[in-house]
Amino acid sequence: MERVTERLILREFRADDWVHTQRYESDPEVVRYQTFNIFTPEESRDYIQRCMSDAQALTRRTYDLAITIKGDDTVVGRIGLHLSHPELGQATVWYLLRRDLWGKGYMTEALASMLDLAFKELKLRRVIADTDPANAGSIRVLEKVGFRQESHHIENIWIKGKWCDTLGFAILDREWLVK
Ligand SMILES: CC(C)(COP(=O)(O)OP(=O)(O)OC[C@H]1O[C@@H](n2cnc3c(N)ncnc32)[C@H](O)[C@@H]1OP(=O)(O)O)[C@@H](O)C(=O)NCCC(=O)NCCS
Repeated sequence: MERVTERLILREFRADDWVHTQRYESDPEVVRYQTFNIFTPEESRDYIQRCMSDAQALTRRTYDLAITIKGDDTVVGRIGLHLSHPELGQATVWYLLRRDLWGKGYMTEALASMLDLAFKELKLRRVIADTDPANAGSIRVLEKVGFRQESHHIENIWIKGKWCDTLGFAILDREWLVK
């Protein structure tokens, strides 16, 4: 799969992309609000292998795509959509971007494209996302594309040595398709 937006190309991962994914996956600021820690080069390679094998599934449930900027094939981030409950038409999204590229609207653009995939192409009815209440950039990205906050879980997750809260966001097909 390849998805083209105004400034980005979202494409399938290739084995040699790990050199570039390792740059942001080894950045503590990028993984600050994630349950996982910085990746070793081996972990970056393994992650890509999993993405590539997910892409080959007979009935695909996970679309974890590499983000590149048009005119440069270097991977600068990733965005994933997983059909967590296909029977309910529900999927989960997640995303990461290299730190020097934050604040340029790239993830908002990538997420909008993934919502087109979810609602227009896969005909899903609900997409959800979780985020840490302190992750202002991620919350803003979700709100900019039309997600609504539905929940605030108190100290439900252990992240890097402490209990953290989680905000649950969602968007329905009818909320997206009117845009
Ligand atoms: C979250 C993340 C993906 C955002 O990507 P991005 O390309 O910078 O996002 P955008 O530029 O499209 O939008 C960011 C918005 O958040 C705002 N923002 C960023 N940091 C902020 C902060 N600390 N406080 C308030 N607003 C903030 C920006 O101003 C922008 O809003 P605006 O367009 O209204 O000005 C990126 O910061 C990232 O990869 N973070 C680490 C990984 C991560 O946390 N992923 C999400 C896990 S749930």
